Amino acid sequence: MTSHLVTGIGELTTHDDRFGGPLLDAALVAEDGRVAWVGPAADAPDADRRTDLAGAAVVPGFVDSHTHLVFGGDRSAEFEARMAGTIYTGGGIMTTVATTRATSEDQLRARLRGLVDEARGQGTTTLEIKSGYGLDVETEVRLLRLAGEVTPETTFLGAHVVPPGIDRAEYLALVTGPMLEACAPHARWADVFCEPASPLAFDGDEAREVLVAARAAGLRLRVHANQLAPGPGVQLALELGAASVDHCTYLSNADVAALADSRTVATLLPGVEFSTRSPYPEARRMLDAGVEVALASDCNPGTCYSTSMPLMIALAVREMRMTVAEAVRAATLGGAHALLRDDVGHLRVGARADLAVLDAPSYRHLAYRPGVPIAKALTL
Ligand code: NIG
Ligand code: FE
Repeated sequence: MTSHLVTGIGELTTHDDRFGGPLLDAALVAEDGRVAWVGPAADAPDADRRTDLAGAAVVPGFVDSHTHLVFGGDRSAEFEARMAGTIYTGGGIMTTVATTRATSEDQLRARLRGLVDEARGQGTTTLEIKSGYGLDVETEVRLLRLAGEVTPETTFLGAHVVPPGIDRAEYLALVTGPMLEACAPHARWADVFCEPASPLAFDGDEAREVLVAARAAGLRLRVHANQLAPGPGVQLALELGAASVDHCTYLSNADVAALADSRTVATLLPGVEFSTRSPYPEARRMLDAGVEVALASDCNPGTCYSTSMPLMIALAVREMRMTVAEAVRAATLGGAHALLRDDVGHLRVGARADLAVLDAPSYRHLAYRPGVPIAKALTL
């Protein structure tokens, strides 16, 4: 067993309620990759190795519980057109499907690894990664295998959109049949883009079919819902006990009340509203009603090509009126809950020793210094 003592932590956010907030002048000991001790630097035990952070603030490594990092191609022209007034409807997904199918496995892997490194370089230590840019059996399996090389949190999103050239009923039969069967061994989760407002995505009944089949195949559930308009996605996610319902941009009072009454996490993706110039989800309304909220990047080539969790925190604070503490919690513990993980998202004894070290004296700088690369992942 090797132990590692980290000293010189100017401010340490653990999410351990016993401390009643961040610890000042703190230290942390990890043993074999797990937190073994946290407390005031003056009381720190000795260890085999030592690292001095010279007063840096530390928060739990970010848990980015919603990304689409395996894809080929580029949609910067679509982004530019959108900034000039074109509305996002999901149509660009098929552009990425075509380029992804035409990109070699080595190139997909190189892009994926580059993005994972980019995320770590901004403090992310846990990532969920979805398929959904293959939409045929062979490519969906390839994307999930690649995702599985970098994370255990892999999500089958064959039900992203109905690809052209196949009718809806036929595609639903494929996604709930042979494609699911081929993909399930490579995925922990299943997801569906439930958005009746988009002609390409899935309505409530179709999404139910997809999720019920996925659950029967042993996958846990998460749902893309209520991104472009109000709809049945949130209620469906709750009915089926999904761990997380993501986007939640357009919610009715009944949706908010039902979420508050459930164990399902509302995962908000403010980078999407930023990059599609859309109204932000009403985080304040959800939090005040008692909904558990997570923040994630949704990094994808269409609606938000950013891996930066600090940017999501800054947007949540500036645009969605979350406090900085709420936003940091949502980007760490909230993401962990959205992935049903109790070993990440906090730095209590027993957690994985996954840290985000800030080149700053306080966690507040994550929102106070937008666009400045102050966070780096450190896994002990
Ligand atoms: O989460 N909404 C559906 N899927 C992605 C966007 C995918 C794309 O446009 O390529 C999202 O926003
Ligand atoms: Fe998404």
